[in-house]
Amino acid sequence: MKVGILGSGDVAKALGSGFLKHGDEVLIGTRTPAKLADWQKQNPKAKIGSFVDAAKFAELAVLAVKGTAASEVIKAAGTANLEGKPVMDVTNPIADAPPVNGVIKFFTTLDESLMERLQKEYPDIRFVKAFNSIGNAFMVNPQFKSGTPTMFICGNNDVAKKTVAGIVNLFGWEVSDMGKAEGARAIEPLCMLWCIPGFLHNSWSHAFKLLKH
Ligand SMILES: NC(=O)c1ccc[n+]([C@@H]2O[C@H](COP(=O)([O-])OP(=O)(O)OC[C@H]3O[C@@H](n4cnc5c(N)ncnc54)[C@H](OP(=O)(O)O)[C@@H]3O)[C@@H](O)[C@H]2O)c1
Repeated sequence: MKVGILGSGDVAKALGSGFLKHGDEVLIGTRTPAKLADWQKQNPKAKIGSFVDAAKFAELAVLAVKGTAASEVIKAAGTANLEGKPVMDVTNPIADAPPVNGVIKFFTTLDESLMERLQKEYPDIRFVKAFNSIGNAFMVNPQFKSGTPTMFICGNNDVAKKTVAGIVNLFGWEVSDMGKAEGARAIEPLCMLWCIPGFLHNSWSHAFKLLKH
């Protein structure tokens, strides 16, 4: 599969290396390709380009940019280059404000998630929320003593969701499908919960698991 990644941060690099490891083709899109020089040396098969290049290249796109810039980046990538395609949305709506007692601040509300905003703004793009509730170090084939962790996903398009579910499984997670885009109202705040032990106790090595009776 051709994977076009919008973003050049730790998440883009971790997922990019993961897709390459599993035999996919990867093009990372950024405004500043020089930032990725070291990563490209370690991942010589990867291509680096602009946001437009990544969107055009993508059979599957990954949105891995700062939450406040997400809409702007999609515009810059060219909406037409993403329409009809699955876009795995890893973003969190983190506000430009410090955490309070370890709890990060969001610029969204519990009645409207970032992914719903993006889905309303770009109705022909097939967003699927995934991988936002885990640190980048554990995104690809993590080993947890307590077993296989759960990745919560949601999105309006079932075909796109099936594609993303396949990736989640390939990357060593079980999938819990939380329905349509509105599910992101609950999935995005899992990022807050995940970060609290980190900010309070410098403990960043955990993941969520849904237990069933
Ligand atoms: N870090 C984690 O472990 C983690 C885990 C789960 C989810 N997330 C979420 O995943 C997303 C990416 O996180 P990250 O830590 O890898 O990187 P980040 O520092 O949150 O974002 C870096 C990316 O955002 C882009 N960006 C920032 N401001 C921009 C602007 N004004 N206009 C256009 N692009 C802009 C940068 O573009 P350039 O490439 O052009 O510089 C870069 O690609 C975030 O939404 C984050 O909340 C992070």
